[in-house]
Amino acid sequence: MSARIIDGKQVAKEMREELKVKVATLKEQGIVPGLAVILVGEDPASKSYVSAKEKACEEIGIFSDDNRLPADVTQEELMAIVEAKNNDPKINGILVQLPLPSHLNESEVLLAIDPDKDVDGFHPINVGKMVVGEKAFLPCTPHGVVQLLARSGVEIEGAHVVVVGRSNIVGKPVANMLLQKKENANATVTLCHTRTKDMAHFTKQADIIIAAAGRPNTVTADMVKDGVVVIDVGVNRVEDATKKRGYRLVGDVDFDAVKEKASLITPVPGGVGPMTITMLLFNTVESAENTLETVNN
Ligand code: GUN
Repeated sequence: MSARIIDGKQVAKEMREELKVKVATLKEQGIVPGLAVILVGEDPASKSYVSAKEKACEEIGIFSDDNRLPADVTQEELMAIVEAKNNDPKINGILVQLPLPSHLNESEVLLAIDPDKDVDGFHPINVGKMVVGEKAFLPCTPHGVVQLLARSGVEIEGAHVVVVGRSNIVGKPVANMLLQKKENANATVTLCHTRTKDMAHFTKQADIIIAAAGRPNTVTADMVKDGVVVIDVGVNRVEDATKKRGYRLVGDVDFDAVKEKASLITPVPGGVGPMTITMLLFNTVESAENTLETVNN
């Protein structure tokens, strides 16, 4: 069997069309959703993420407030900017691009963001609410993974999901989301990591594998059962002299071999990647809608 490929670009496009309609409805009520993006320094990967976020905002009608700060900005200056955005009614979402330069205290900055504007879902209040199953902003990549599964018609309830990787931005939150007693969840979840003994023992039992380890070939064909659904969150650069830029992007899964056993699989690029920014737009629109609810109640 050769797997059906989950087209993340197409799912993201469908969701962005739905969001355009919501933004138009908000505009009729006098609200333009606003996202403040704060980028410190000149890291090329961060600059390209931030540009993609700003472009995506413009495409669906979100006001993008661009804040580019020098690499030597002080903690106090950065905290003052976050505070100003917390108090600005035109801003519904605040995103501080990570990682920050090492002289800055990242957790203090994340803690300073108003949880009601924390569209990254990184504030401990939102993390805590997510874990206990309360309504909260969900972190964008794991939320995008759940949307990809649900919109591809995958039955999550009762499935055995094996998550590979325990990062705070993907592995831990996606495992938590999928075990909730909720729609698009209710799975049996196993979380594997670098200290797991005999990882294949677990992955072979999986109906769904979510690979988020940050290492190529973490999941190979001998580690999966026939018919498995595979979501590959990895984005790794491997040297490739045939490419002009000298490298190509691969995920954490041995795609060519695993796709022969899987029923559904995401490619890299073009799988989870396009969903992350889409879920950021989703959270920003939701935050703007929340202000309307506050006014109307
Ligand atoms: N750096 C890499 N990914 C992300 C993300 O999703 N949010 C933020 N704030 N920084 C990142």
